[in-house]
Parts: sequence; C-alpha cells; structure tokens
Amino acid sequence: MKTEILLSYTLFCIFGLGSAFAQEDPKILFEQKCSVCHLKQRPAYEEMKTLIAPPIMGVMTHVKDAKATKIDAVNFIADYIFEPTPAKALCMKQSIERFGLMPSQKGNLSKEEAISVAGYLYENFGY
Ligand code: HEC
Repeated sequence: MKTEILLSYTLFCIFGLGSAFAQEDPKILFEQKCSVCHLKQRPAYEEMKTLIAPPIMGVMTHVKDAKATKIDAVNFIADYIFEPTPAKALCMKQSIERFGLMPSQKGNLSKEEAISVAGYLYENFGY
C-alpha cells in the first residue's frame, strides 16, 4: 500500500509536474521577455494612449494572415525577435511609424526560447 502511494506520487512528480512545466515555460518567458511591451489582453481605452507596442493578439492575427502554417509562423517570429527589419515586418506600416521598429531581443533570450515562445503565441493568440 505504502509503496503504491509512493509510486504514484513519484509518477505524478515526473509526468504531472513535467508536463505542467512544459506548458508553463513559454508563458512565463512571454511574460518576462515580451509583455513589457506587448499587452496580452485587449487594451482598455485609457491604455490605448500609453501603448508602446501593438498588443500580441493583433500581432498574431497579422502573422497568421500572412503565414500558412504553424512552422512558417514560428520561424518568422523566432527570426524577427532577433533581427527585426521594416522589410520583414508583417504588421501594418502605421505600427512601425507609431511605435518604431521592435528592438532586437538578441541576448535577452536564446534561440530555443524564441522558438518555444513563438509556438506558445501561435497556439494562444490571434483568431
Ligand atoms: C522593447 C519593446 C518590445 C519588446 C521587449 C518586444 N517587442 Fe515585439 N514589437 C515591438 C514593437 C514596437 C513592434 C511593432 C513594430 C515592428 O513590427 O517592428 C513589435 C512587433 C512584434 C512582432 C510583429 C512583427 C511584424 O511586424 O510582423 C512580433 C511577432 C513580435 N513583436 C514578437 C515579440 C516577442 C515574441 C517578444 C518577446 C520575446 C517581443 N516581441 C518583445 C516591441 C517589443
């Protein structure tokens, strides 16, 4: 009996927590590395004036409009994070005019983290 409990507890720790972390990680990454500039929720009226970047659901709608598959979208985002240029930008021209080009996040997160956060954004925002 005791061993059974111990065993299921161990399995819970390995699989339960493991998968919880796998899901939490990119979300936390986004909160730490991106949400300083990109709001996650639709901005309230007063927030509109103080925005410093387009909210992420709008960004993801543009990305999904332009990229046919998840792989294309993730590759685009993971690249843009490190090397943003006006030529690559998919968002409306007015966004860059209003907010300026996104500063490169080189050194702020790793390539793996960029891919992981991009996948999370694709699954959770836009449409
Ligand atoms: C210092 C503020 C800032 C941070 C931090 C930031 N961004 Fe941005 N981002 C911007 C601004 C401003 C724009 C709009 C101008 C542009 O497209 O370059 C933008 C645009 C984007 C776009 C749309 C590009 C396009 O035009 O097609 C994506 C995708 C994006 N950001 C993802 C991210 C992700 C993911 C992170 C976190 C790893 C992040 N950003 C962190 C400011 C930021």
